[in-house]
Amino acid sequence: MTQVKSICCIGAGYVGGPTCAVIAYKCPEIKVTIVDVNEARIAAWNSDELPIYEPGLEEIVMACRDKNLFFSTEVDQAIDQADLIFVSVNTPTKRAGVGAGRAADLAYVESATRRIAQVAKSSKIVVEKSTVPCRTAESMRAILEANATTDLHFDILSNPEFLAEGTAIQDLLKPDRVLIGSMQTPEGICAQQALAQVYTHWVPQERVITTNLWSSELSKLAANAMLAQRISSVNALSAICEATGADVDEVAFACGRDSRLGSKFLKASVGFGGSCFQKDILNLVYLAEQMNLPEVAAYWYQVILMNEHQKKRFVSNILSTLFNTITNKKICVLGFAFKKDTGDTRESAAITVVKDLLQEQARVVIYDPKVADEQIWMDVSEPGVLDNRAMVGKQLTICKDAYEAAKDADAVVILTEWDEFKTLDYQRIYQDMNKPAFLFDGRLMLDMPKLKAIGFKTQAIGKPC
Ligand code: UDX
Ligand code: UDX
Ligand code: ADP
Repeated sequence: MTQVKSICCIGAGYVGGPTCAVIAYKCPEIKVTIVDVNEARIAAWNSDELPIYEPGLEEIVMACRDKNLFFSTEVDQAIDQADLIFVSVNTPTKRAGVGAGRAADLAYVESATRRIAQVAKSSKIVVEKSTVPCRTAESMRAILEANATTDLHFDILSNPEFLAEGTAIQDLLKPDRVLIGSMQTPEGICAQQALAQVYTHWVPQERVITTNLWSSELSKLAANAMLAQRISSVNALSAICEATGADVDEVAFACGRDSRLGSKFLKASVGFGGSCFQKDILNLVYLAEQMNLPEVAAYWYQVILMNEHQKKRFVSNILSTLFNTITNKKICVLGFAFKKDTGDTRESAAITVVKDLLQEQARVVIYDPKVADEQIWMDVSEPGVLDNRAMVGKQLTICKDAYEAAKDADAVVILTEWDEFKTLDYQRIYQDMNKPAFLFDGRLMLDMPKLKAIGFKTQAIGKPC
């Protein structure tokens, strides 16, 4: 069986970076080189200020960088030297052309695969790591096999990553499962075993699941779709709770005690975000449409529609509570990342909420402990509209601390569940705000009776009004 000695990871992003850093950490005898075409990103990986924030990541990178873990822009060289290559590039939703708004843009996957085909001088195991639609591996195989020779053989594996941002390192160190799909040929199964051996350096054998290629690809989309569906389900219930006087936390707790349901992932919120859920559901919807299964497509699409509805409903509650106008009112937004413990804002509910508040002519002040100012500006300005940033600038301010953001505000709006928001001095915040001082908790994280006692007019998702 092939013994993996040298790994190349194409794509130094949120998935490739942490995953391969942990592989290097746990497999000191394997040389791991993470490459990217983005020079600034590679420079950051080689500096003291890593390009992504993830608890525990820095320690792992520092422990193996320049020993058996390398970050480089020399893509061809790393491909050439590796016997196993992870393709971990971005797969955004297509913006134009056939399947726009639904299908994944596989241009980056294809370009990385073509590069491997051009550069490889010895046989390689090529591992699809990016989340991709079902049967992408087939396209990769077609490209690679067209370039194979009698002494140059390519095996394709699907090894989707299930890490969640903010807990990536813990998820990688102690995964619920590692999934490896392969062609059910003797060579395919041999490649599958070679990758399994990398993971069993630290993952118990029984947690390594092997399937065929298509099952592996579909499982990733299915897992994310089902997780997102739970959130949309509990968010749909939160609307019923608000209308009827039930408490969504109590309902979720009671439901979660049923061992068939389980208690995790039942937290109502202003809406799910992140780079995966929406994109993967859209992939599933597109796949169902392509297979002429419109009812199946509509079923999954409803999960996204409910998420959009939740964000709109939240803003509309703010508007109606603030006497139906927020024109010129100052709204303090606490949190902009799509969840706590990450600086990532991709598909964050905060983007929609803040844009809607700006549309209503509010003055919005944002504080987030980790998101870069420039990222917020990019997210809320419409790209391509020349004056938009200047226009947004008249209404939007970004602050370095929560107290400054809340000063003279009419309302405080919690959009990310950062732990530090739990321990703020809300007495001080209340004193500095306009009265009546409103507080909207989009994450169900604050002690509402305590805030009410201070004097706040409070509202939280899924709580009786
Ligand atoms: C997700 C999957 O969890 C992970 O397995 C996959 O590999 C990538 O996609 P991620 O998007 O990083 O991970 O974070 P996750 O913790 O799943 O949260 C996604 C969104 O759902 C966040 O906006 C979060 O705030 C929201 N969420 C999560 C809720 O609103 N309620 C919950 O109960 C859980
Ligand atoms: C259900 C609830 O399980 C129970 O908690 C509640 O009190 C009453 O309703 P019941 O309808 O008796 O109980 O049976 P259940 O085992 O839940 O099955 C319901 C249906 O779902 C059956 O037709 C069953 O075949 C089907 N099912 C169940 C599936 O198709 N797949 C499954 O994984 C589970
Ligand atoms: P993810 O969240 O899936 O990890 P990211 O966008 O964070 O996605 O990272 C993907 C990375 O892949 C980006 O840094 C991008 O520059 C890189 N990339 C895309 N195509 C190629 C390629 N052909 N060769 C090398 N790097 C690539």
